[in-house]
Amino acid sequence: MAAEQTSPEVASTLLRVKGLRKFYEQRRWLSRRRFVVPAVDGVDLAIARGTTLALVGESGSGKSTLARCLVRLEEPTAGEIWYDGKNLLLLSRAELRAIQAHIQLIFQDPAAALNPRLTALEIVVEPLLVQGRGTRRERRERGLALMEQVGLLSQWAERPAAEFSGGQRQRLAIARALALEPRLLILDEALSALDLSVQAQIVNLLLELQVSRGLTYLYITHDLSLVGHLADEMAVMQRGRIVERASAPELLRHPQHAHTRALVAAVPRVEAFTSGQVAP
Ligand SMILES: Nc1ncnc2c1ncn2[C@@H]1O[C@H](COP(=O)(O)OP(=O)(O)O)[C@@H](O)[C@H]1O
Ligand SMILES: [Mg+2]
Repeated sequence: MAAEQTSPEVASTLLRVKGLRKFYEQRRWLSRRRFVVPAVDGVDLAIARGTTLALVGESGSGKSTLARCLVRLEEPTAGEIWYDGKNLLLLSRAELRAIQAHIQLIFQDPAAALNPRLTALEIVVEPLLVQGRGTRRERRERGLALMEQVGLLSQWAERPAAEFSGGQRQRLAIARALALEPRLLILDEALSALDLSVQAQIVNLLLELQVSRGLTYLYITHDLSLVGHLADEMAVMQRGRIVERASAPELLRHPQHAHTRALVAAVPRVEAFTSGQVAP
């Protein structure tokens, strides 16, 4: 698709989703009748390189299903996913494997996601080990550098993950996600389990990393508290569809859709976060 590659708007786009659908078939308890859950029901999205798109919506609106489709943990029922000008759904296994390192997903609960018996350093370098990259010594050096970049002291490298606080574990999860030099980070409720002050510290870390590494973020949340500080664009999801989309400041100040208004109203101090500093 020549037009895809030549238009300047498209050249700045890292990820584009077109008409994405994911339907689940379910059965009611003790019933033979199947019914279809349209978890993602025709989503179009685009994220420009080096920017953050916040995907917001109440629980059950389809955000995680969309995220799982993007990293191919789920097969979409229909639609297209274009990453850096390539249709992810049409790639060979080998091509897909190479691209999968570029797109990393970070979940909500780092305690559950990280093996508590592994040391901090083992957790960070595991993706390198799995991909067979570098020598043991190179991986160690790289792991220590990554720990430092996310604000963790290298003398904590041999500590088991279980001894870290929630915020520190999420920093570890970020360091691990960065190990394969991704370009797109998908953060699915990644900060939702943390206190607001710890969330704010990690938002600041994400902003620093975005500048230093040119990262692109898809920041998924049901909680708009810090969205204004992190996001450039916002898309609001309800029942599998995008119901509103705008620049983050515009959408937080002038929400149009009833669902967006409800999400904004649920955060009493949202205005405070749309301008100025994040509270310590
Ligand atoms: N594996 C699955 N099988 C059947 N239904 C599912 C599955 N995963 C999610 N769903 C349904 O899809 C809808 C969207 O869920 P989800 O993507 O987790 O939403 P969110 O992340 O916004 O809370 C919900 O109705 C949920 O029950
Ligand atoms: Mg979810």
